[in-house]
Amino acid sequence: MALAKHIDADELVAKLHDAPHTQRGKHVHAARAARVAAAGSGGGGSQGDNDIHPYASRYASQQALTKHRIPKDGAPADAVHQMLKDELDLDGRPNLNLASFVGTYMEREAEQLIIENLSKNMSDCDEYPAMMDMHARCVSIIAHLWGAQKGETPIGTATTGSSEAIHLGGLAMKRRWQEKRMAEGKDTTKPNILMGANAQVALEKFARYFEVEARILPVSEGSRYRLDPALVREQLDENTIGVFVILGSTYTGHYEPVEEISRILDDFEAETGVDVPIHVDGASGGFIAPFTYAGAGFKWNFELPRVKSINVSGHKFGLVYAGVGWIIWRDESQLPKHLVFELHYLGGTEESYTLNFSRPGAQVIGQYFMLEHLGFNGYRAVMENALANARLLSRALEATGWYRCVSDIHRKKGDFAYDATKVDTPFLASERSDAYNAGLPVVAFTLTDDFHAKHPNIKQAAISNLLRAKQYIIPNYPLPPNEEKTEILRVVVRESHNLDLIDRLIADICSVTQALIDNEVPDLSAWQPFSHSVEKEHQSLGQKDPRKAKRPMSEGIHRGVC
Ligand SMILES: Cc1ncc(COP(=O)(O)O)c(C=O)c1O
Repeated sequence: MALAKHIDADELVAKLHDAPHTQRGKHVHAARAARVAAAGSGGGGSQGDNDIHPYASRYASQQALTKHRIPKDGAPADAVHQMLKDELDLDGRPNLNLASFVGTYMEREAEQLIIENLSKNMSDCDEYPAMMDMHARCVSIIAHLWGAQKGETPIGTATTGSSEAIHLGGLAMKRRWQEKRMAEGKDTTKPNILMGANAQVALEKFARYFEVEARILPVSEGSRYRLDPALVREQLDENTIGVFVILGSTYTGHYEPVEEISRILDDFEAETGVDVPIHVDGASGGFIAPFTYAGAGFKWNFELPRVKSINVSGHKFGLVYAGVGWIIWRDESQLPKHLVFELHYLGGTEESYTLNFSRPGAQVIGQYFMLEHLGFNGYRAVMENALANARLLSRALEATGWYRCVSDIHRKKGDFAYDATKVDTPFLASERSDAYNAGLPVVAFTLTDDFHAKHPNIKQAAISNLLRAKQYIIPNYPLPPNEEKTEILRVVVRESHNLDLIDRLIADICSVTQALIDNEVPDLSAWQPFSHSVEKEHQSLGQKDPRKAKRPMSEGIHRGVC
């Protein structure tokens, strides 16, 4: 039986532990020291350090790791390593985390290179010139992949991820708008930025943290749950610093229509003289569209003069482990001098325009490794494979008759309609992505209306929870505001999700759904989402905070997807 919420497991353990209270906190070092001393005096036989492994130490049964305060004495690395490793077994398996866009696989050589360079800091430019060269090469390679134009000088940097990169892109747009307005003697106090309601939280964070009004445009089935070009024009005015356009919606994987929005902004400029730039959030798509046969289905990069900056997560489809993103401006003129700091540090002079000073350098090296190792054709193969597997999963789900896909990458190019009568005859003209709708290898699916009508007691969240018991992490969340009545399950198909895994996943989704149908009961609440963590319920001082788990969020940003 699960412990009720009012029971504190820490208190129970403290009360019921074998060792008297006075002994607790006495560290494993002391025990070891005593054993070694005893061995040295001839009293302990062979009981030296070498005979003890972590589970034979006091740690295994008598002492827990401290949770909220630093212990007075440390403990041997092997014991702490083992205890932490064991605790971390409670985490999900990264490769089965189908919720995440972030890569969970790198080859052994890449891992080795990363480990060899783990101690290098990106901020120490002078000390690590070879690493900085690799950084510059990555910027150049990515700028070329994104259609860098002749006569322009792209400039950019690695960041800790797309969030930081988006904030930099937003800040540059804000500053450029301010400088222009100041030069014209106009008010600069009311900047606004446009984005769809499907925007990832990083975009809304930019607006809130940097005091720009976020004009969040509702999405609809008609707009394919992404920024609706029809709504953009009416939200534009002279205070619009820019439009965030997302190449690969986090919710459904749809690419937002960059070219169409660019045309709308061209018309707006022709009418009003107000020049509104675009920042493309290519967190995932920035490393997919350049390689796939499908591309984005339209122009989206620096080929469009209005696209001033683009970000991407190196740690998503850049195929590097978490900790690296990129932002590139099409030309150095787009990066206001106001944002650039000249640093005289540790003997050299460097320009800095990132939010973080110290950042991991190993991931940048990892990025360069991947670009050199896979090359264009290698990246293309990875992306095409992921899309092919995502198409297969989509078709299989629709063929069950239980599910309908909200994502469209498995449908014939130009066809965005779900047709229940055709799910057994999928369009299979080609194994290449250009025969299908362009998008991220994301499968966003929902139980059909027919299924809900037949099985009103089965909640979609139960599918997610039962799959969790099989170790898959597949989130169930509502679509963005306006469409939130539709909940979707979402699978991000990554490089490491091979055909065998997809095959297995299809079988498991089917068996879980069938099990729910067979055991349909009015109350499936035991399978509703539940995530309990002692640490999360405590304040930073380790005292229990009754408000913590339900701290008022009226002023916060609620997001069911990440
Ligand atoms: C569209 C989009 N933008 C931004 C982000 C944030 O990226 P990061 O996690 O690299 O900061 C994400 C993350 O999933 C995303 O999907």
